[in-house]
Amino acid sequence: MNITIINGPNLNLLGVREPGIYGSEGFESYLTRLRGLYPDVTIEYFQSNHEGAIIDKLHETGFGDTAGIVLNAGAYTHTSLAIADAISAISTPVVEVHISNVHAREEIRHHSMISGVCRGVIAGFGLDSYRLAVEALIRKQ
Ligand code: DQA
Repeated sequence: MNITIINGPNLNLLGVREPGIYGSEGFESYLTRLRGLYPDVTIEYFQSNHEGAIIDKLHETGFGDTAGIVLNAGAYTHTSLAIADAISAISTPVVEVHISNVHAREEIRHHSMISGVCRGVIAGFGLDSYRLAVEALIRKQ
């Protein structure tokens, strides 16, 4: 089984960026641990700070044999109708993920442009949010 994780803007700075909110572990090190938990699952990873590159990756992944996409669209979550449209356009299920509990933060983060077109939403469990999303996609099979 293949699962793709897509991280959006500023998530390349995990471990460095606002550690009080996002923790002190970098994503690559977390990813190694996550892959270790699911040896039978091929977990592909893509990160971009660019909206169009995220859309291209959704298109590339969204019609093939990938079982699911775990998407942390970062701040594009709150602004991007284009990413919402891309999720609607593809057939692969997408789980929206956030490291922080966006609903406990500033009001501007309470609204997601993409939640309504995603299979589900996981937020607030730190990096473990990604594992919970992978688990949900495996159980959905
Ligand atoms: C985030 C929450 C967003 O509001 C923020 O813009 C991010 C990260 C999270 O994982 O908690 O970049 O998606």
